[in-house]
Amino acid sequence: MIKKEVTKLLNEQINKELFSAYLYLEFVNYLTEKGLMGYAHWYRVQAQEERDHAMLIYDFLHYHGAKVELDAIDKPVLKADSVMDVLKEGLKHEQFVTASINNIYDLAKQNKDFLTQRFLDWFINEQGEEEANANELILKNEMFGGDARSLYLLDQELMARTYAPPSVQIG
Ligand code: FEO
Repeated sequence: MIKKEVTKLLNEQINKELFSAYLYLEFVNYLTEKGLMGYAHWYRVQAQEERDHAMLIYDFLHYHGAKVELDAIDKPVLKADSVMDVLKEGLKHEQFVTASINNIYDLAKQNKDFLTQRFLDWFINEQGEEEANANELILKNEMFGGDARSLYLLDQELMARTYAPPSVQIG
């Protein structure tokens, strides 16, 4: 039911989502070393969400009898001299993922693969949310990150993020 070309891109997307988790764990490394445990916690939860995204696509392909092919995950590289650099890398990465999801949606549409389009609706909304979150982190850091006391409070606020597994229909 899922077209071959679409299956190929969905498999690549599994890899991109797992890479996202890996990249965000690299962010956690940097932030932990800086003692910013709230920011580190926020990205640790984000890494968990990325693994969930990968597994949703994995389950979707299996459920519909399409072949899942796992590829090697690239080593994440983070070049950052400040928390702001990390946050900007986060936004840039989410924009890359959004473009990738949009590309699969477009191919599914061209192939009249309605099942995949319906499945990806959740991902399109999720990407909107993830870019908004990344922008908000940047904005708040721009406003308050310059002063140590405010940064401390901001870091404490980010500690409150909770993890909730996604609920997405795959069948
Ligand atoms: Fe799964 Fe942050 O994209």
